[in-house]
Amino acid sequence: MNELLNLFEVERAALARLPVGARDYYAGGAADELTLRANRDAWERIAIHYRVLRDVSVRDQRTKILGTALDWPVMIAPTAYHQMAHRDGELATARAAAGCGTALILSTLSNYSIEEVAQVAGRGWWFQLYVYKDRGITRDLVARAVDAGCGAIAVTVDAPQGARRERDVRNGFTFPAELPMSNLLPAGERYSRPSLAHGGFMGYVNEMLDPSLTWRDLAWLVAESRVPVLVKGIVRADDALRALDHGARGVIVSNHGGRQLDTAPATASVLPGIAARVGGRAPVLVDGGIRRGTDVLKALALGADAVLVGRPALWGLTIGGEAGVRHVLGLLRAEFDIAMALAGCASINDISADLLQPS
Ligand SMILES: Cc1cc2nc3c(=O)[nH]c(=O)nc-3n(C[C@H](O)[C@H](O)[C@H](O)COP(=O)(O)O)c2cc1C
Repeated sequence: MNELLNLFEVERAALARLPVGARDYYAGGAADELTLRANRDAWERIAIHYRVLRDVSVRDQRTKILGTALDWPVMIAPTAYHQMAHRDGELATARAAAGCGTALILSTLSNYSIEEVAQVAGRGWWFQLYVYKDRGITRDLVARAVDAGCGAIAVTVDAPQGARRERDVRNGFTFPAELPMSNLLPAGERYSRPSLAHGGFMGYVNEMLDPSLTWRDLAWLVAESRVPVLVKGIVRADDALRALDHGARGVIVSNHGGRQLDTAPATASVLPGIAARVGGRAPVLVDGGIRRGTDVLKALALGADAVLVGRPALWGLTIGGEAGVRHVLGLLRAEFDIAMALAGCASINDISADLLQPS
């Protein structure tokens, strides 16, 4: 796989390998996929006004987010069903993340269970939570994740309703019946819920997840959790501040990779306003279309403390399991290192807004 020189080449190789249903489920977005494309376009449009003569002989990319140490400011976004990409699924992703100095945010909808992933995830991993109508299930998921050692919980708030992803509708996509949704079944039971088998993924979301959530439920969750809670799926500064006012310890600026509300704004376009209003009170993370080391640098210059990548990890898994995810992370990290050097940044603290708009 060393001939694949960047994340786009890894993506192309992965797309060619996957069966059409899994390929479109991973790659696709909602409706016209305008937000999916806008995420990517927005990073591409930003120019970096690099600085010169800054002694960049030694570069330090380390950071710490809510107690989780990262060797570089990139984490793996939560995505469902890693076993459609590779039989080692989330175990491979978690091992690769740990081996590459970063952390996985494990999806509620993983094939391997919280406890199985925790065993291989190393020092830092987080859990992504969907809030179920059944608060007993929700409470149980939180308790299991915290007991297993997750460093934080990212509660996803941009999916009160399943979006219409037309590729999946066209393909009649359902998750393969032989793959377990381990966190939601009694130990040992295989995935066989009628709602999943017959209504597809969106049927499941609409049946199980709670569309009546409000800020009060966030406060409930914060009280329930012994680790910091971040809110994932924010595109407005007022919502970011409300999240912090209700006890969240961080926000993830995200439109679910263009998979929920189509025509939602590109994350790069809303990040600076949100980061400015949060004003350092709490970490601000961002995801959506980040594919190059220069994108990571731009995100930090726009005010993010770290970024997440979603699909690239799935493409890496597809081409080579753990080694494939390591390859993806290695490429991105090397690109980020070069970007820092060429932009005149010896440490991530040097990555500031004036790189994008010099005075
Ligand atoms: C196939 C797929 C499955 C996803 N599953 C989840 C999920 O279970 N929970 C969640 O919060 N976000 C989920 N997301 C959204 C990602 O966490 C993330 O916001 C998005 O993928 C980032 O954009 P990127 O893929 O362009 O990097 C999923 C995204 C994809 C592509």
